[in-house]
Amino acid sequence: MGSTTLEPQWRRRLTRLRSQVDQISIPDIVSREMPQDREWCDVMVAGKRRRIRFHDYHEIYGIPGLYEKLFYEKLGCCSPSRVVQLLEELLVEFGDDPRALRVLDLGAGNGMVGDELYARQVQRIVGIDLLREAKEAAGRDRPEVYHNYLAVDLTELPKEVEEYLRGQRFNCLITVAALGFNDIAPTALIKALDLVDTRSWVALTIKEDFLREQDDSGFATLIRQLNRDEILQIQAYRRFRHRFSITGDPLFYIAMVARKLADVPEALLQRQPEDTA
Ligand SMILES: C[S@@+](CC[C@H](N)C(=O)[O-])C[C@H]1O[C@@H](n2cnc3c(N)ncnc32)[C@H](O)[C@@H]1O
Repeated sequence: MGSTTLEPQWRRRLTRLRSQVDQISIPDIVSREMPQDREWCDVMVAGKRRRIRFHDYHEIYGIPGLYEKLFYEKLGCCSPSRVVQLLEELLVEFGDDPRALRVLDLGAGNGMVGDELYARQVQRIVGIDLLREAKEAAGRDRPEVYHNYLAVDLTELPKEVEEYLRGQRFNCLITVAALGFNDIAPTALIKALDLVDTRSWVALTIKEDFLREQDDSGFATLIRQLNRDEILQIQAYRRFRHRFSITGDPLFYIAMVARKLADVPEALLQRQPEDTA
């Protein structure tokens, strides 16, 4: 991982997938008020037309190549490669060897982030996603990438799964395009931070709106608190264009790379979802 010149992995991967997606039609929406989590499109899959909501990930993962063609080819998503490149820059700066990383990939989806890490010879990558369909898609499309992939809810881990995860001695947590909306909540992020070792690298992306002072998702308050209490030390904070919306507007996210400096305090771990806003 000496330089930052790797091409995004999805292009190479898409040429190898047996995609059944013939066509994607983005609706002609004039209003810019369409919320990001309500976007949809029509797709032709093996000769049949289907309407897909962007946040119905279980359906998207079930169709090989749709995730890549829709979000990456059509809407210009670049988040996995951007955040992994940023992490790579920091590792080089601190003289850390990327091959020694043991990564927990939270909200791993069909493995786009794992693919970027794998291309950089990261030693061990364990994926977690709420959806069984995500695990199946990662195994189908990127079988060599993950050492293990668990379809579990991080906030309700069975004891033996939690013990297994702690036993991995993760030294890196990564979560890309998965925080906020109805996906990963602040309480799940707190739990994930608790599962990785002190001194771990933490790399994440989040929609910039969720970090605004007035936002009530709970992420702005949480990140501020973690930083203030020196649990996280932010090393890089970069605004970037995650992708375009269906109206053609850029959607800006923040890519953040930090170090975990201290254990997550018990009071934070005991927080209820309603306390985090
Ligand atoms: C937009 S996808 C991002 C996938 C991948 N990180 C990427 O960059 O392509 C968000 C993922 O987060 C997962 N997710 C949502 N809530 C979750 C939770 N509580 N725990 C784990 N994964 C979750 C979803 O199932 C979905 O696969």
